[in-house]
Parts: sequence; structure tokens; C-alpha cells
Amino acid sequence: MSQEMPGSAAIAARAGSGGTHADAAAGQAPSDQPARQGDAFENLLHEDRRFPPSEEFAARAVVTGADYAEADADRPAFWARQARELLTWDQDFTQALDWSTPPFAKWFVGGKVNAAYNALDRHVENGLGDRVAIYFEGEPGDTRTYTYAQLTDEVKKAANAFESLGVAKGDRVAVYLPMIPEAVITLLACARIGAVHSVVFGGFSADALRSRIEDAEAKLVVTADGTYRRGKPSALKPAVDDALARDGHTVRNVIVVKRNGQGVDWHEGRDHWWEDTVGAASTQHTAVGHDSEHPLFILYTSGTTGKPKGILHTTGGYLTQTAYTHRAVFDLHPETDVYWCTADVGWVTGHSYVTYAPLINGATQVMYEGTPDSPHQGRWWEIIEKYKVSILYTAPTAIRTFMKWGKDIPAKYDLASIRVLGSVGEPINPEAWMWYREVIGGNNAPIVDTWWQTETGAQMIAPLPGVTATKPGSAQTPLPGIAVDVVDEQGQSVPNGSGGYLVIREPWPAMLRGIWGDPQRFKDTYWSRFENMYFAGDGAKKDDDGDIWLLGRVDDVMNISGHRLSTTEIESALVSHPAVAEAAVVGAADTTTGQAIVAFVILRGDAVDTGDATVQELRNHVGHEIGPIAKPKTILIVPELPKTRSGKIMRRLLKDVAEGRDVGDATTLADNTVMQQIAASLKK
Ligand code: WTA
Repeated sequence: MSQEMPGSAAIAARAGSGGTHADAAAGQAPSDQPARQGDAFENLLHEDRRFPPSEEFAARAVVTGADYAEADADRPAFWARQARELLTWDQDFTQALDWSTPPFAKWFVGGKVNAAYNALDRHVENGLGDRVAIYFEGEPGDTRTYTYAQLTDEVKKAANAFESLGVAKGDRVAVYLPMIPEAVITLLACARIGAVHSVVFGGFSADALRSRIEDAEAKLVVTADGTYRRGKPSALKPAVDDALARDGHTVRNVIVVKRNGQGVDWHEGRDHWWEDTVGAASTQHTAVGHDSEHPLFILYTSGTTGKPKGILHTTGGYLTQTAYTHRAVFDLHPETDVYWCTADVGWVTGHSYVTYAPLINGATQVMYEGTPDSPHQGRWWEIIEKYKVSILYTAPTAIRTFMKWGKDIPAKYDLASIRVLGSVGEPINPEAWMWYREVIGGNNAPIVDTWWQTETGAQMIAPLPGVTATKPGSAQTPLPGIAVDVVDEQGQSVPNGSGGYLVIREPWPAMLRGIWGDPQRFKDTYWSRFENMYFAGDGAKKDDDGDIWLLGRVDDVMNISGHRLSTTEIESALVSHPAVAEAAVVGAADTTTGQAIVAFVILRGDAVDTGDATVQELRNHVGHEIGPIAKPKTILIVPELPKTRSGKIMRRLLKDVAEGRDVGDATTLADNTVMQQIAASLKK
């Protein structure tokens, strides 16, 4: 794994669209330095703009700064209080944290708790059955509303249906669904019966789905005939059929939601329509408490090698930290707020901040199936106006896309309901932050930039909107009860004003409990780089105030529109094509998607380079192997790749080429004419 210090590329990515600070909020002293790539880094360390919460906001905030002091005094005790206040336990726990065998943590030892009961039944028992849990907005414009009472019934039916198909506690269920309520219902039904869900994002291909189904040894697959994308039906079921076509998997049944009404191939005995199984099941189902450390889900994510890692999360700690952070970071007032997280359920944000935390906290949320430009570029703002969304949680890549479309579009809608804005998935550049605040937040909604990962399960670094004076572009402060630091190569904490590696020094409740089936890889990936610290894989800086700025990945993981993809995974897909001899992939800074995939490919001697046709063919091949999101934006056919004497590809140099810079130090190359050969072939 390459562990270069965050270099100029990461910093250039932070500079984003390279806009100036001159358009800062009225009344704020703008920095007079334009954020050019070269000096962006200086700007990062001298961000003078501060946006403290208004007095009214601070006075009504659900948490205060007192949480920091309480957690600092006794971290496990702080989390134990949250666990008892936010969740209803079937059996109380006897110990907050067992860290006797690091890196394997146990939280809330001896406790028993049911995630679905906490998300659903208890709200109904508490008289909130008529509160809306989900406002669903389909891409074609169809809508559905579920109250807590209705959602509880649906989840009980699904739990009964899954059990009737032989799914028992501990069994794995693969989920390949679009962003429709059945996704949330399926996840909660699994959690209810103690089955472990493994969601595969609908944008992944049949091959990617197959490897995940096989790794987790799933017994049941829940899917849909398809969904809608930009006004057109798009299929899902064929990928499931394809994934299950070969023998050697453990899947016995497939449940199919009818969503877009397109015809599907049917495998009699294996396939069941959702409406015939779940639809016909009883609404009587009693939830029992599962052990606090019972596995809740597996979610595959890209690592530094080709094989995705099955990140394992368990129940009690995960629910506690997701619920606490959702309440504290978004200042959730469940009786009045309408919350909308735009993430797909295929990613961790769609698990923690769509499926679990909002429902545990009794919130009302919006769920939208489609893309932001269907049928027009104002769709999101129309949805916010319609449902009076008060908390919006989305990704910088979306914000930058809206910036490109122009502020006239959101200006046509009434966005006055918005009072908190969240950002997640990648660094948000100060220009995008300011645009988000001014154009969407009416210049007064606090922005919470939340840093976390699939592995951390829940938010780790973020401002508290009623407490923190926010700063454009910085995630700022570890949340109460979270011990984050930035360290140098030797693992020493760096002083303010310096950069290094982001680490987590103490166990946290929602931490991953391992990699499915591979404890050694868990230790090697996260716990071997620094002694007694979790290595996150991100570069970071502490500014002069000690606030944390995230600088992007320091390993071979790319971040495309906030989606994690590994360079190695895409390289493997490319070399599996018969025409390809070798491939190297880099993430190049991109003003909209954060990073864009650029592939350098050497063709085999006997392969004919047909120019654009070859490039198109290779892009489609990657789409087929991994999924459309992994298709390289650019593929460059080159005669050679730059390698060190030990044979390691020097991606740093390829990144220079991909980002249009002069190539940096190439003296360690085995053949120092390679970069000239590449440059010459690109000119052709
Ligand atoms: C990046 C998504 C900067 C980071 C929740 C991390 C961020 C990776 C932020 C995890 C943020 C996420 N600022 N970078 N606010 N949030 N990242 O597992 O590089 O899909 O390591 O989890 O996204 O991506 P993942």
C-alpha cells in the first residue's frame, strides 16, 4: 500500500473550482487571496471567516457544549448514558466497553436490544403511530407516505415472510434494491429477526454482486424488477439472475419488488414477488432483543487491494452512536423537523442516516428515488419546498453540480424551511461551502461538514450547529466521545499548523468489528500502521486553531462523487480484458466529482488499437465488471508505465500527467525515458 503524505494533488483537489473568496457572505471579511492551486494550502490554514450560530438557534439546540466536557471526563460513561437514553434495551448492559483484546472491541456488554423495535414499535407504543416516518417521492412523480404505525406493520410482514423462507438469526441476506421504501423495510426486517443484511449498491454489476453474495454466503436476495433513471425504466433483476447463474452460491430464494413493471425472467421455485410473500404475511411479529454485539450488517467497501472488504457492524454501539450523532449534529427536533438525506441505501450513509438513526430518533424523513435533474434541474428544491424539508444532508459533488447549473434554479423555490445543512463523503471546498450556505441556506442555516467512513459507522468529526462557529471547508472538531488526532510518520501528534495522517486513538461505539471472514486483514489494514491507533487512510491538517481539515486519501482509494473505489479494483477489471497487458489507474482532481478516474493502459502486442473504439470497449468492460460508476472518465493508451526498480508503478507521476502538471521527480524510475514516451504518445 502506498502511504505517501498528502501531496499537491490532494491539496489541489481541496482548492476545488478555484473560485475566490471575494464573493464571501455579506458582512464577513473576505480573504483577499484567490484560492489558486499553488497557494490553496495557505488559504486553508488562514481561513478567517467564522459563522457562529444565531442566538435563537443556540438557545433551542438539543445538545450543548457540555457534552464535550462530560465525554472527556469519562468516555465510556458518556456513551453508556447515550445508550440508555436513546435506546430501549430488553436487557441492560453490565459494562460500557470491553477493550481487553484490541483491536476487537465490545460495547455495552451483556445488553440485549432490537434495532427494529427501537426504530418502530416503541414509537407506536409511545403514541407516535400517526407521525410520518417516510415521505417517498418516486422519480416518475408517484408518492407514498408511511406513518410509523404503517411502517411497523410492513416491517413485521417482511420479517414473517423472510422467516417463512427459512431465514434465521445470523443468516445473511443480500439486498440489491433501488431507493424505495422496501429497501428500508428489508433492512429493518433483517435486523428484527437477527439476519445480517449485506446491501450491494444498485449501480454495481452482476459480477460485483456475485462476488459479494458469495463472500457473505447469502441465503436470500431481495431485489426489484428495476427502477427509473432520468425518466427511463432501468433494470435490476437481470443482474441478479446473472449473478446466480453459476452454481456454487448459497442463495435459496429471491424476493422481487415490482417497481417499474418491466418484464423479468422468472425462476420458478426460487423467485417470489414481494407482493405475494411480504404482501400476504401477517402483521403480528414480536421482536426479541439481540445481543449488543450481534452482527447487524456487512457492507462491502473498496480497500487498497482489488478485493472489496466486507465491513462488519454490530448492534448496540452502532445504534447508539448513529442516533446520538444524528440528533446532535443535525440538531434534530423530531416533532417539527423534516429531514432529508439524499444518500442511496447502497452506501453507508444510507444505512446510518436513512435507515437507522432517523427512525431510532422518531424523525420524519423524505426519500427520493431518482436523479437531481429528473425531470428538471430544480427537482430537489421542488421536493424541499413541497415537504418543507428543514435538514438537508448531501454530498459536495451534488453541491458543485448545482453550482454549475446556476443559482437561478434554486431561487425559483421557497427554501425558507431549511435550518441545517449537512455535507458528507469528501472534502467540501470553501467555495462550494459558501455557495451552499448563501444559495441554499439563506445565509443563516449552519453547515455541518461531517467526516466519517463505512468503517467508523457513524459521524466522527463535525461541528455542533448550536455550539461551534463554523468555518468554510473544515470539518473542525471531533464529536464528543471521539478521540481523533493527526499524527506524523512516527505516530506523534502534530502541532497546530501542521499536517499528517488522521488517526483515531480510542475505540468508539460504532466502530467496525472486523472484516467479514478476515480478522488478519482487519488488523493489517487499520491497526498496523501506528501502534494502538486506528489508521483511517486520510491525510489531514490541524490549522492554527486546532481545527481539522481533511485532505483526501493517502492510499490507493479514490473518491469519485463521494463514492469509494479502489485503483487496484479498476486495474484488475482492465487487465481482465483480452486486449490489455497492463493498466494503472489514478484519481485526478475534478472540479465536479472531486476526483475522476483516469486509466493508463498498455495494450497487448497482438491487440489492434482502434483508437476511440478501443477506449469505448474498455470503458464498457469496466462497467460490466464493476458497474457504471467505475467507468474511467479518460483512458489513455500508452507504450509504457513508469515503474520503480522494484517494479512498483509510480502513480504520483501518472497523476501529474492526468492533472496536466509538469511531471515531478522521476529519478527513482527504472527507465527514466518512460515519462517522455508517455508524453509523446499523448501528443499523437
Ligand atoms: C472521505 C462515507 C472529507 C474520506 C461516509 C473517507 C470525507 C472516505 C468526508 C470514506 C468529509 C467522507 N470530508 N472527506 N466530510 N466524509 N470523506 O466509506 O476520504 O464511503 O475516508 O464513507 O470518504 O468513504 P465511505
